[in-house]
Amino acid sequence: MDFSGKTVWLVGASSGIGEALARALHEKGAHLILSARSEAPLVALRAELGDHHRVLCVDVADRESLSHAEASLGPGSLDAMITTAAIYDPGRVADIGLEAAEQLLIVNVMGTLAFAKAAPRLLRKGGMLGIFGSVAGYFGLPKGQFYSASKAAVINLAQTLRVEYAPQIDVRLISPGFVNTRLTQKNDFDMPFIIEPDEAASAILHGLQSNRFEVHFPKKLTYGLKVLQMLPYWASLRLTKRMN
Ligand SMILES: NC(=O)c1ccc[n+]([C@@H]2O[C@H](COP(=O)([O-])OP(=O)(O)OC[C@H]3O[C@@H](n4cnc5c(N)ncnc54)[C@H](OP(=O)(O)O)[C@@H]3O)[C@@H](O)[C@H]2O)c1
Repeated sequence: MDFSGKTVWLVGASSGIGEALARALHEKGAHLILSARSEAPLVALRAELGDHHRVLCVDVADRESLSHAEASLGPGSLDAMITTAAIYDPGRVADIGLEAAEQLLIVNVMGTLAFAKAAPRLLRKGGMLGIFGSVAGYFGLPKGQFYSASKAAVINLAQTLRVEYAPQIDVRLISPGFVNTRLTQKNDFDMPFIIEPDEAASAILHGLQSNRFEVHFPKKLTYGLKVLQMLPYWASLRLTKRMN
């Protein structure tokens, strides 16, 4: 998609990759609806980028909040909808509390599904729906966090919607490797090939301007993990056992 003059609803614009993506889309001439739960960073971003952008606070995990936001956007009024909204709780799957796990599923999976379900009404025909997975969802790794399982669900959801929504909606899956944001600042391990949010935003924009379903980066990391995914379990599990 050429984003010049397009109206894009971007959830997750208050921080990290979403904030960098908002700046990159603004540079391309898009009209943005900037969303997240926290209002102050969105208002500051709009002050920086210009009043032709709009701030719309939403919590994708809260149905009432999402319905309210949807109602304020007219049917067929958007060219693209993108959500980066997710939460992250590092730690071993074996150690996570069930309440924390449930919250992860509610935001990362149910929030993405609820946002995606609004797409047929809000997008014009041929509009784009961008969903954020993660390379963490490619394969279950030891110490891989329950977050990884939530992202595996999001990847599966995007694959299904890509076909179910075609040709009316162009569904895209965005799979970042490590990006330096508040989310990864929680990690206490080495993060190979980590990049800055503006590099991620430029890779995303480049990918969304092509026709590819999945936008994944950096390739040095993503291709290695894709190979792991394709191996038979006797080989892949032998490799992941070494990481334990
Ligand atoms: N950073 C990485 O290395 C990395 C790697 C792979 C995938 N990803 C994925 O990339 C996406 C962005 O991650 P990030 O690193 O940029 O994280 P981030 O800096 O924490 O940004 C997350 C954004 O989502 C918003 N958000 C969280 N919960 C929300 C909710 N319930 N409703 C609406 N908005 C919500 C946050 O704003 P509020 O808190 O104000 O709501 C924030 O704007 C996520 O989907 C993440 O899983 C990141």
